[in-house]
Amino acid sequence: MATDAELPSAPPAWWRDAVTYQIYIRSFADANSDGLGDVDGIRSRLPYLADLGVDAVWINPWYPSPQADGGYDVADYRDIEPMFGTLADAQALISEAHALGIRVVLDIVPNHSSDRHVWFQAALASPPGSPERARYVFRDGRGPNGDEPPTNWPSCFGGPAWTRVTEADGSPGQWYLHLFAPEQPDWNWANPEVVEEFHDILRFWFDLGADGFRIDVAHGLAKDMTGGDLPADILADGARFATPYWDQPGTHDIYRGWRAVTAAYEPERLFVAEAWVETPEKLARYLRSDELHSAFDFSFVRSAWDPIELRSTIDASLAAHHEVGAPVTWTLSNHDIVRHLSRYGRPQSERSANPLNGWNGVTDVGLGTLRARAALLLLLALPGAIYLYQGEELGLEEVEDLPDDVLQDPIWERSGHTDRGRDGCRVPIPWTPDGPSLGFGTATPWLPQPAHWKDLAASVQADDPSSMLHLYRTALTVRREHLAGRDLPLQWRDLGGDVVAFGRGDAFTCTVNLGSEPCAVPPGRVVLASGPLDGGSLGRDTAVWTTAD
Ligand code: NOJ
Repeated sequence: MATDAELPSAPPAWWRDAVTYQIYIRSFADANSDGLGDVDGIRSRLPYLADLGVDAVWINPWYPSPQADGGYDVADYRDIEPMFGTLADAQALISEAHALGIRVVLDIVPNHSSDRHVWFQAALASPPGSPERARYVFRDGRGPNGDEPPTNWPSCFGGPAWTRVTEADGSPGQWYLHLFAPEQPDWNWANPEVVEEFHDILRFWFDLGADGFRIDVAHGLAKDMTGGDLPADILADGARFATPYWDQPGTHDIYRGWRAVTAAYEPERLFVAEAWVETPEKLARYLRSDELHSAFDFSFVRSAWDPIELRSTIDASLAAHHEVGAPVTWTLSNHDIVRHLSRYGRPQSERSANPLNGWNGVTDVGLGTLRARAALLLLLALPGAIYLYQGEELGLEEVEDLPDDVLQDPIWERSGHTDRGRDGCRVPIPWTPDGPSLGFGTATPWLPQPAHWKDLAASVQADDPSSMLHLYRTALTVRREHLAGRDLPLQWRDLGGDVVAFGRGDAFTCTVNLGSEPCAVPPGRVVLASGPLDGGSLGRDTAVWTTAD
């Protein structure tokens, strides 16, 4: 009989250090020539993703939706938006991805539905106090005629978080809560019917072969409806943290229930939370052993390209995650955030009031590209899981000059045209240097692409060893060879103030020079560098991976 020491240890779960590629479906590849990306477009590009070397894809919401918020307004959680394809197409995509060794993570939107969802339509048609209304958050208004919203809570997209309905008899009626757009009514997670419904939706997709879910607004589900008005200082800070609706204790019980659903599957399916909470310690609470597996760590979104900030934020995230035995899930960009190439290309001195925008000032694309190349090697050398956002491997910048009349993000309207919103990071990606949409499809794309993106097309970069695409492919190969699947803790190396350097085990070192002066390339064999190495020196905003062999 084998003793414990002889038993093979369980292989680490795939997601603990996987590289996942985010597909913003509207902007990835348009197979049916309507100007919007779709499921068959993704299928046609799976070989590209396999070649890039990613372990998984995360696909933004693809469900039937009026698209009031790019699909984050879901009308039916168990089907595919007809503009994107059919359920059969989705099943084919999942099996084709699996055949290439790529796992498929979907996006679940549990904080709110679309106002076109049948349950919301039933709630509107039913009287106050009915079971139909109890699936959402309806309240009477304040003031003598109930014409004041129940609280002063703001919508994340601007304006109030409450909208008043007209009752069946035509009279002005109750108000419903929507932390986002009015077309996105919030579910009532205190209602067991809602809890059960979502367990069932999870099982529906797991049974179709989905490997996991990214959880939208994961920190918003439980609400303290006795919380009342927000004080002025919290409102002035954008109501981002201390409110009765973000990061409430009841949220954790909801995820204990979700974990039980996924634990019944073999292999267990994955959750990755989008939870904008105040500290790494608060984030780690979602990752306790009976809750979620992973959650995006937005350290790199919040930090400047600055050695002191980067070192301390990496340390804080690693320490907080270590406490609960979870890996950190690093990311530089997503479909809500100004592309990191542009964030890093701006002066790093003045932070924008909106953390998703990063920094104020004019973007220097050349500088941003240099730093984005170095940032990739920094990111991929860290212990943990990585999420890449489509187009970053092509070196795409934020499109900052979209004409007003093409903007579709609800933030543009809801902010009274003061905030241009997130469309600048959602522009369809260029595949070839020609055609009406640079190979995205054959129709005019839903957002116009900058003409110079023809030089950044995937086909143009594919065989160019100096291209961003080449760097991504090589870096993913080297990471797989030297770091993936190994328990190699990070050890800082002190190479001077402007240099961020660390080892992973004894053999592998990542060195990034964030200063304006060159520094020495550390000893060892250079396995990859983000830019040319001038003899033995590492130039500004350049990173190098070295090994001891
Ligand atoms: C976060 C999503 O990433 C974003 O795109 C969306 O607008 C909000 N949640 C609301 O669902």
